[in-house]
Amino acid sequence: MSATMTPYFYVGDVPVYGDVILSPMAGYSDVPYRALCRAYGSAMHYTEFVPVEALIGRNVHERFRRRLDKQPDERPMVFQIFGNDARMILEAAQRIEAWGPDIIDINMGCSTRRVSGRGAGVGMMPQPELVRDTFSLLTQHLSVPVTGKIRLGWDESQQNYADIARIMEDNGAALIAMHARTKTQKYGGQADWDAIADLRARVSVPVIGNGDVRTPADIERLKAHTGCEAVMIGRAAIGNPWIFARRCREEVRPADLLDAVRLHAREMVAYYGAPHGLIQFRKHLKQYLADLPEAEPIVPALLTIQSLAEFESLLAQIGEPSMAMG
Ligand SMILES: Cc1cc2nc3c(=O)[nH]c(=O)nc-3n(C[C@H](O)[C@H](O)[C@H](O)COP(=O)(O)O)c2cc1C
Repeated sequence: MSATMTPYFYVGDVPVYGDVILSPMAGYSDVPYRALCRAYGSAMHYTEFVPVEALIGRNVHERFRRRLDKQPDERPMVFQIFGNDARMILEAAQRIEAWGPDIIDINMGCSTRRVSGRGAGVGMMPQPELVRDTFSLLTQHLSVPVTGKIRLGWDESQQNYADIARIMEDNGAALIAMHARTKTQKYGGQADWDAIADLRARVSVPVIGNGDVRTPADIERLKAHTGCEAVMIGRAAIGNPWIFARRCREEVRPADLLDAVRLHAREMVAYYGAPHGLIQFRKHLKQYLADLPEAEPIVPALLTIQSLAEFESLLAQIGEPSMAMG
């Protein structure tokens, strides 16, 4: 990043040079996809979330260690963890601090029963003392900034984001990201942008707003509506890294789309090897090609191929005259 650029905001003492950020998404926001999103302008990156229990044993399982991989130039890099015990969260955070994150984030938004049902993820929100102890311990003992990603609360009648945010800020949190839905809403219904505006007005640390951002125009609308420092984009970024360059998906030419697919597939194979990288890539591929009628006839084959060379030669057939005629 050029030293002459002005940061949009700071997380503690960490500068952030942009206002649009890829959401953490388990199964999607891995090293290869983040590389692509970064190239289009995503300003800060989170890892997929990692359970603290996996980080405090003698050996960290390869699957979780990999989730905390990062590229040397990928900054600011946020390592995201979740747990339901403040001391265990601290122990895990101290271990991974040595692995070089710029920021450590506590996931307080995951709504799946497996996580929230045991008091982790959004299951922390009905436990203000756990939030207090976690942020108080981590900010005392870590040297990197500590942040949290929350929801509105557990359900419609328990929207306690304002109380939780105050506790976080009073105990040293350096930023709050909020997915403006409750736990019971999961990923449905409308995100409550008024609540993001309310949160922004209540705290003095930076706020990232999240939920229902699907187009470049939505980025500007959410910022204008709430005053939040940055906008985080999850599902609408899958198969659509151009959103970080504020480009509409419909404006992306098929040739550019296919270049991105090729690049992403190569990155996946370079990182995971074949065929695993291609298998992992399939869920992205479906999204990339969803609106490309020219690709329809070969999508089933692309979704079963095991070698990169075959993948690329099949991809090259998209839009070729013989295919269009046949
Ligand atoms: C497949 C998937 C995986 C997710 N994994 C995480 C995660 O690991 N950590 C996290 O904080 N949020 C996670 N989320 C939530 C997103 O970061 C985001 O808050 C949510 O999708 C709302 O944003 P959107 O409307 O832009 O998708 C995940 C969401 C999806 C769809």
